[in-house]
Amino acid sequence: MADTPAPLRIALAGLGTVGAGVIRLIEANAALIARRAGRPLQVTVVGARDRTKDRGVDLSRYAWEDDMVIMGERADVDVVVEMVGGSDGSALACARTTIEAGKALVTANKAMIAHHGLELAAKAEEAKVAMKFEAAVAGGIPVIKGLREGAAANEIERVYGILNGTCNYILSTMEDTGRDFADVLAEAQSKGYAEADPAFDVEGIDAAHKLSILAAIAFGARLDFAAVDAAGITRLRAADIAQADALGYVIRLIGMAETMESPAGKVLFQRVQPHLVAFDHPLAHVDGATNAVVAEGNFSGRLLFQGAGAGDGPTASAVVADLIDIARGEIGAPFSVPVGELEAMSAADAGSRTGRAYVRLMAADRPGVLAEITAAFRDAGVSIESLIQKGRSDDQPVMVALVTHEGPESAVAEAVRLLSGSDSLAEPPLVLHILAD
Ligand code: NAP
Ligand code: HSE
Repeated sequence: MADTPAPLRIALAGLGTVGAGVIRLIEANAALIARRAGRPLQVTVVGARDRTKDRGVDLSRYAWEDDMVIMGERADVDVVVEMVGGSDGSALACARTTIEAGKALVTANKAMIAHHGLELAAKAEEAKVAMKFEAAVAGGIPVIKGLREGAAANEIERVYGILNGTCNYILSTMEDTGRDFADVLAEAQSKGYAEADPAFDVEGIDAAHKLSILAAIAFGARLDFAAVDAAGITRLRAADIAQADALGYVIRLIGMAETMESPAGKVLFQRVQPHLVAFDHPLAHVDGATNAVVAEGNFSGRLLFQGAGAGDGPTASAVVADLIDIARGEIGAPFSVPVGELEAMSAADAGSRTGRAYVRLMAADRPGVLAEITAAFRDAGVSIESLIQKGRSDDQPVMVALVTHEGPESAVAEAVRLLSGSDSLAEPPLVLHILAD
């Protein structure tokens, strides 16, 4: 009779939204997972800050560990799943000691990977242990696997998409219901979508973490989070969403990365920003906490990955997929090619790009102001496709929204610079790029 294969023994560090989801999934699908993995997944030890908290799962059959940092050093553990969060602190210490102890690491922590992923990957490669982070990008969508494996034969020219479920939930809910930003953010938090500090979501930092990871894998480039030009959704007003709608667009927070040729060689463009997305673009129909990633391969053409980007079930699905790979003995370089072979690319200059833009200004409602605004765009060489002023007020600024023709981004930036300090404007202009087809 064949020997029963030894289980993969798992430590769960962190038992919040994701950690509790992983327990529920491993318990619910134990038999099918064991069949597909070739051996059972067995949680041996769990840990979090508060041992007494009710997490809606039965923890009595698992050992408890207070110190996340020593999880990987335990004799009853083959792999540690880090779901504590935060780029440094306990999460990073836990990841380092796990790899140093010669154990595999799975993490959902995009902040830690964006800041320390290269260091951890180099350590994992040296120790010949697996380090996997599917859940760190786009929740339940197997986009890292898709790029590393399914699209591995292609040169990827561009990767972009909706990478933050919280922002997408806020924007699409505001669009559908007209509800207030703070109210919808609180709802996204209650559903478990938001980061412990939701500023990471709404300021575009979480999407920037994910974009930098995707770019490293898609282009074989050294991960460079600091080079992502990131802005969030906090400056948007309900009036921008309404104005975009009147023009035939929705507003979505888009992360975009592409390689570009420059006189100095190949450079990497990485930006996170709210964009206007035309109603007929596939990303315009991505609502709620859904994420979507488009990757353009030189032989595959356009690939679209779409699914739930946040929440316990989808994220647990990605974590457990990594555990199944490890149970099967798959190690591989964490960034697809060894860290030492990732290409160092300088950051591209956004000014050399071209496109159309939506510019919103809050302007004094008095004679000559529109002439001042249009003169700045004329002097910067920007051609205006349409311009609309909303409202009428003697003492409050009114909204002026314009859309430019296709042209250099540097020219729009110059028009904004020419208007800076103008006492006709109540706040700096908001520039949103219009997503090309
Ligand atoms: P969470 O609900 O806040 O859970 C964090 C867990 O870590 C909690 O159980 C907490 O313990 C524990 N913890 C925090 N600091 C600790 C410390 N110093 N020592 C021991 N335990 C500590 O967060 P989450 O939403 O599950 O997210 C976890 C990770 O997954 C983060 O990196 C996040 O970015 C990532 N992620 C989340 C989602 C999502 O949809 N939520 C999706 C993809 C990736 P207590 O419960 O005792 O306080
Ligand atoms: N806070 C993140 C989001 C969780 O809203 O997308 C998934 O990474």
